[in-house]
Amino acid sequence: MRHLLSINDLTQSEAVAILDTATELARVSDAPMKKLPTLRGRTIVNLFAEDSTRTRISFEAAAKRLSADVINFSAKGSSVSKGESLKDTAQTLQAMGADAVIIRHQASGAAHRLATSQWMSGTVINAGDGTHEHPSQALLDAYTLRKHLMHGTKNLQGIHVAIVGDILHSRVARSNVLLLSKLGAKVTLVAPPTLLPVGVDSWPTSISYDLDEVIPDIDAIMMLRVQSERMNELYFPNAREYSRYFGLNTDRVKRMKKNSIIMHPGPMNRGLEITADVADSARSVIVEQVSNGVSVRMAILYTLLTGEGIESGALA
Ligand code: NCD
Repeated sequence: MRHLLSINDLTQSEAVAILDTATELARVSDAPMKKLPTLRGRTIVNLFAEDSTRTRISFEAAAKRLSADVINFSAKGSSVSKGESLKDTAQTLQAMGADAVIIRHQASGAAHRLATSQWMSGTVINAGDGTHEHPSQALLDAYTLRKHLMHGTKNLQGIHVAIVGDILHSRVARSNVLLLSKLGAKVTLVAPPTLLPVGVDSWPTSISYDLDEVIPDIDAIMMLRVQSERMNELYFPNAREYSRYFGLNTDRVKRMKKNSIIMHPGPMNRGLEITADVADSARSVIVEQVSNGVSVRMAILYTLLTGEGIESGALA
């Protein structure tokens, strides 16, 4: 495996190996000296053509904890948004000797374009391309689910996860559906019909329009941000109506299973898809998702750039 462009690039055992490697690397993040020398002398470029807080700094922290040199390239609003300019950028990165490029781009398929071009020879990691995929987010979500719900077992066999809200615009939902089903979890999508993509019937999921019906049956709920910046028409009557039918509030949380967890990839619209008190409640693992993200991204970089993972217990 040279690139990580889509969850489809991973077999089930490769995905589990990344999660196992992340579990080992989490020990490094917990240690007072948070560094491993693994990627010393390697250059990793963060090429972000779209806004990001969590994903960009998470990859930066991950690369630095593995001792790589990191170059941050924020290309928003610059010429990078066109195919030809992506080529120029890639050739520049190649000339600078980038070993890996982590790319976020508003165009679906941008990471794939970079990886399959002859423009550069390094590893390409998709950090979110348009509404297509966000594989590192799905891996950190799976890691979080495994930690809380699976007591150390390898996969996610038998758990039931609801993904709720703006599925239409969500690369997080797409990558999660692929990975969760690969790992054996049952997935139910909950959204108004207007926020479900064409062709969703062929996804390996159930679909519901009724959040209240789904709530008592799930082990985890993933709330998605309403992506207003990608909406050029009206998808629901108004914010109040949306929250009433598809928002997570205390009343709904009270009807969730005892050990179930609440997730959100961030950034949150507090008061829209999730109330502030639910976001900050004991059941919420939203902040922990962010710290897990660093270990998982270390595991991704480690695996892609060294060609191997770390076996359970090896760093103990
Ligand atoms: C997500 C993204 O950018 O796709 N955020 C993230 O990476 N943490 C989800 C979102 O923007 O709503």
